[in-house]
Amino acid sequence: RTGTPSGARGLRFTPVAPNTADKVTVPRGYTQNVVIRWGEPILRGAPAFDPDRQTAKAQAGQFGYNNDFLSLLPLRGEPGRQVLVANHEYTDEVLMFRGYDPENPTREQVEIAWAAHGLSVVVVQEEHRTGRLTPVTRHPLNRRLTATSVFELTGPAAGSDLLKTSADPSGRKVLGTLNNCAGGTTPWGTTLHGEENFNQYFANGSSATDKRYGLVSGATERKWERFDKRFDAKQEPNESHRFGWVVELDPYDPDSTPRKRTALGRFKHEAAQPRLTDDGRPVVYMGDDERFDYFYKFVSSKRMMKGSSRAARAHNLTLLDEGTLYVAKLTGDSPAAEFDGTGKLPNDGEFDGSGVWIPLATGDVSHVPGMTAEEVYVFTRLAADKVGATKMDRPEDVEPSPRTGRVYVALTNNSQRGTDGKPGVDEANPRARNKHGQILELAEHWDDPASDGFAWRLFLVAGDPDDPSTYFAGYPKEKVSPISCPDNVAFDAYGNLWISTDGNALGTHDGLFGVATHGERRGELKQFLTVPVGAETCGPVIQNRRVLVAVQHPGEVDGASVEKPASSWPDGPGRLVRPSVVAVYREDGRPIGV
Ligand code: FEO
Ligand code: CA
Ligand code: CA
Ligand code: CA
Repeated sequence: RTGTPSGARGLRFTPVAPNTADKVTVPRGYTQNVVIRWGEPILRGAPAFDPDRQTAKAQAGQFGYNNDFLSLLPLRGEPGRQVLVANHEYTDEVLMFRGYDPENPTREQVEIAWAAHGLSVVVVQEEHRTGRLTPVTRHPLNRRLTATSVFELTGPAAGSDLLKTSADPSGRKVLGTLNNCAGGTTPWGTTLHGEENFNQYFANGSSATDKRYGLVSGATERKWERFDKRFDAKQEPNESHRFGWVVELDPYDPDSTPRKRTALGRFKHEAAQPRLTDDGRPVVYMGDDERFDYFYKFVSSKRMMKGSSRAARAHNLTLLDEGTLYVAKLTGDSPAAEFDGTGKLPNDGEFDGSGVWIPLATGDVSHVPGMTAEEVYVFTRLAADKVGATKMDRPEDVEPSPRTGRVYVALTNNSQRGTDGKPGVDEANPRARNKHGQILELAEHWDDPASDGFAWRLFLVAGDPDDPSTYFAGYPKEKVSPISCPDNVAFDAYGNLWISTDGNALGTHDGLFGVATHGERRGELKQFLTVPVGAETCGPVIQNRRVLVAVQHPGEVDGASVEKPASSWPDGPGRLVRPSVVAVYREDGRPIGV
């Protein structure tokens, strides 16, 4: 037996080598269990999963499809249990239904897809002294929210004419949440869920704003517009305005109506992660995942109340309705002439500079000439265009370090950077045709999250360490794992950043990595796991005894279908491939990475 592998505390494991195995590969001495799969019943009365007898009613009581963001929250009074909240980003019908005809989806298939979107809340049970987790079915907190559940629009744009439809003349009541990608967990015990690529569900987009948000001008791929006219922008032009928000859910109150927080703006919200100012006001960092789109923050004007009294909980559910929405503008400190698109480091040895937060709106007051506050919130991308925000390489998830306060932004890739007619490189986005992405580290002035200025530098420039354009915070490249397309990020208790990837352009599978952000091992990136064929790695949640990941879209490979599967994960040949949540833990029951 070998001794403990070297590494920063929390990252002492033998790195997993890049591979193309159709399984979740974990470090030596670690093991895993599938916590919950798409289709497993979680609500009272929901049937067991039956791939050939799927119904919308069954799916509405079962775990949804394509798990992405995960949060684990404490559950007081029930030892060994936690509350798992999961996003279900989208459906992949060819992998869900035998004999699926993309040109002619049936009503039942469409309604199953509606029920497979949204969010799940499911209580999970820890096995004594290990990291293994199993679902507690029929727990009273278990809940499904789908594309047809009731949501409330709140904040300064709620009730706006821009949000009214024939079914909802109030402009405050929306059916459903769509394309929930990543998210966040608040210090007051709620979860946040970004509505990302909502554009794909709406047919016949025609306005300039529809175009800026990427609505198609004809039919959609899923053809939901055939079954509910609200998905046809020609008939209900405002319905798409009711998606693209950050949703706040109170997982401890199964009767609560989740809220779409208009004060946080409308764009392709990847994620939303809060931290508190010294005087207790939440600041939420948010990325808009599109090539050449922006990075934002919201600063609340209200202070969080401590404790879990009814009064505190009620007050804290208003924090994200009042404040100021900002967008980031970054300026490099090296001459532009030093950036030729190859990713060569500038002469000062670092991709770095300063930045300002440009205010867009505060409550009912717009700071953008020519736009009302309601327009700023509903058409936030156009507001940010007007004020000259910095066009980034697809801002994905974001995470402030609980140790240092520095904020880490995953910029996943941008194949169009520096190509004909598109913006060229800059110090924060220094590679043309950026295939592998980078991670930006941002330090607010005086470490005050409400500051209007910040310093920034690139922490990682991803790729194969043999590729001269990569950078690992200056750490020796021969000692790090290759990484491509960072997407979701999370911190462990030691201040290490964990990074999951989506779309690995190095020819191997996506995975999960850990990297120290401070100390002498800063930049020492190590691969912790890899995922099966076609999957991206999501979640992640790093706890003392377990790493929880969501294996999203396993088997999603061009041309694959139920009849021609590309993956047989997790249940083996002859079974449907199923997106699932996986817990990874040590065989000896000791903490992760020590
Ligand atoms: Fe759903 Fe930006 O990843
Ligand atoms: Ca520089
Ligand atoms: Ca993502
Ligand atoms: Ca992604």
